[in-house]
Amino acid sequence: MTYVVLENCIKCKYMDCVEVCPVDCFYAGENMLVIHPDECIDCGVCEPECPADAIVADSDSRSSDAWLKLNADYARVWPNITHKGAPPADAAQWDGAPGKLAAFSSAPHSEDEAPGAPGSEPRTVPWRPR
Ligand code: SF4
Ligand code: F3S
Repeated sequence: MTYVVLENCIKCKYMDCVEVCPVDCFYAGENMLVIHPDECIDCGVCEPECPADAIVADSDSRSSDAWLKLNADYARVWPNITHKGAPPADAAQWDGAPGKLAAFSSAPHSEDEAPGAPGSEPRTVPWRPR
């Protein structure tokens, strides 16, 4: 058993979910998040946190093998995410839009995506002698 992130996360990417996961098993792409099915402990805490209603248990009829596979595949290549950043400015416009899978990006989350994005806090630049 695991929970699964579905299509409506695409281009919404609110990231409220990552703040509550007790085992930090969310992974971030450019425009959606996924859950690592081998790390999820099936607690269900994230499901009601998603404003886009994009998280379900894999036993839910809205889930499917294809979405479970997408979560599993990208959880292995995208970076782990544990802190909520700034959602896309047009997230609300995309909530519930049909056919969002066509907009899915396989690119990983970029730390420089937006102010407040995870990892965008000031980073220490390694000192190098000139
Ligand atoms: Fe994390 Fe629990 Fe959601 Fe699984 S069900 S992703 S463990 S918050
Ligand atoms: Fe996506 Fe919902 Fe999390 S929109 S990033 S699953 S809060």
